[in-house]
Amino acid sequence: MNNLLGLRELDAEDIRHVLATAANLREILGRSVKKVPTLRGRTVVTLFYEASTRTRTSFELAAKYMSADAVNISVAQSSVSKGESLKDTLRTLESVTADCIVIRHSSSGAAHMAARYLKIPVINAGDGRHEHPTQGLLDALTIADHLRPDTGFDFSGLTVAIVGDLAHSRVARSNVWGLTKLGATVRWCGPATLLPSDADRLPVQVTTDLREGIADADVVMVLRLQTERMEKGLLPSLREYSRLWGINATTLRWAKPDVVVMHPGPMNRGVEIAADVADGLGPGATVIEDQVHNGVAVRMACLYLLMDTGSPRVEDKL
Ligand code: NCD
Repeated sequence: MNNLLGLRELDAEDIRHVLATAANLREILGRSVKKVPTLRGRTVVTLFYEASTRTRTSFELAAKYMSADAVNISVAQSSVSKGESLKDTLRTLESVTADCIVIRHSSSGAAHMAARYLKIPVINAGDGRHEHPTQGLLDALTIADHLRPDTGFDFSGLTVAIVGDLAHSRVARSNVWGLTKLGATVRWCGPATLLPSDADRLPVQVTTDLREGIADADVVMVLRLQTERMEKGLLPSLREYSRLWGINATTLRWAKPDVVVMHPGPMNRGVEIAADVADGLGPGATVIEDQVHNGVAVRMACLYLLMDTGSPRVEDKL
């Protein structure tokens, strides 16, 4: 692996290797001194052209917990606001001796473009509606913890329903690739205006019937309405969306009784997910905070695997 651009490009063995590495590294997060020397002297630059709380913070902490230096470029305060192109910004960051670039951009394909321009590893932290591979990986680790512990990340027999704004969701795409490669069945379920036109070319079952989508699902993954990427007129109103598509204690009863409820965040409580479900008071288990926690471990694993070429065995490094 030289870059992490999407889960489509990885095979099941690669995905399992990253997840196993993350599960190993996660132990560090429970220590009182959360620091190992693994990436000492290396520098990670996070370049975010879009808003982020969890993804940026967890990349930065992941780098720091492995003793790398982490520098964040907020686009509003960089020369991008003076008209500098993405290509020139990336080349500049390489010239100041960054060892890895983590990039989030509103254009699908921006991370691939970055990888073509740069010799150092590039990690895609979300590009437009295309992919968000570390989110897909942290979701897989969380599903394994709750439903398939100690199976070596074998998801055969599991049904994962992803509900909501699929057309604008890079998380939904990365999860389709990641989860199906591990053996799960993935269903996409949302209003017709929020389904992507290429869904029939992806390994996913698609339905516009919420009950059918959730029926007997092991996992219900709820997506935010990504209005910042949406053209006007796709939805009559948020209230109507919430009434017809909101995940709440009633709709969750269509899923398996021990359903695992996930959300990549940020959540819009009372729109796509009811507040009691968000708070873990609905049926099944709501694991949104576990997802965030696993996000740090997954990002440690990705940085380690891309930047530390010395040892393939993470256990030796702890
Ligand atoms: C997601 C994203 O940015 O794609 N957030 C995240 O990284 N956890 C989902 C979203 O914005 O709704």
